[in-house]
Amino acid sequence: MRKQIAAANWKMNLTYDEGINLIDSLTLAHTNVNDNKEVVLAVPFPYLKTAKDKLKDVKGFFVAAQNCYTEESGAYTGEVSAPMLASLHVDYVIIGHSERREIFGEDNATLAKKIRICLKNNLKPIFCCGEPLKIREAETQNQYVEEQVKESLFEFSEDELKNIVIAYEPIWAIGTGRTASPEQAEEMHAHIREIIKSKYGATAAENISILYGGSVKAANAAEIFGKPNVDGGLVGGASLKAEEFGEIIKSLK
Ligand code: PGA
Repeated sequence: MRKQIAAANWKMNLTYDEGINLIDSLTLAHTNVNDNKEVVLAVPFPYLKTAKDKLKDVKGFFVAAQNCYTEESGAYTGEVSAPMLASLHVDYVIIGHSERREIFGEDNATLAKKIRICLKNNLKPIFCCGEPLKIREAETQNQYVEEQVKESLFEFSEDELKNIVIAYEPIWAIGTGRTASPEQAEEMHAHIREIIKSKYGATAAENISILYGGSVKAANAAEIFGKPNVDGGLVGGASLKAEEFGEIIKSLK
């Protein structure tokens, strides 16, 4: 059975002390994750080493970076590479978050490069896709997301795909308090699974975890995660409070 994942995306929030306190509260209160469930904390770069040190012996807890660069090393002032993350034993890397796409101009081809470099360094990409409001209003979201998935993922082999997680995050639902309905999420997740199936076959499609992101909170997580094609969530704002995120972890199937 595919993994159910509660991933916290802290974005550019929390000081070091606040972040470490949050990790401590989460691990104290929620060590009840089983083999099929994972908690992933995507913390800012400067906190990765401490986060990994704290979590390395905590069952079911993993650490993610929020981004990495397309090259392995060199004259790229301010960037962080996949081998650097690997040297800290980071587990996952969020790739192609809509904020990276929109604010930093990352396109599907760039994201494919980033995924390639993550896989080469044994880091698992959490690949984000999702449509902006105007696409949803024009009802062309299925084609839009299909293009994102094809252009960033289809160059990888079935074996490589086993180490990739997909997060569907409709941009109109991120940080807006406006969630996709559980039905809208399920519809898109089923569509994404079909796209994967068309290229990689039924087993690969069945096994890939597809997370929903966009205003997930304790109050709506169980209903959204309860849908058959939704395998957990990528959570921004509501992941910054231990109690709230703890409830979200408990909502995993
Ligand atoms: P949000 O963010 O939960 O604050 O809407 C989700 C995300 O951007 O990953």
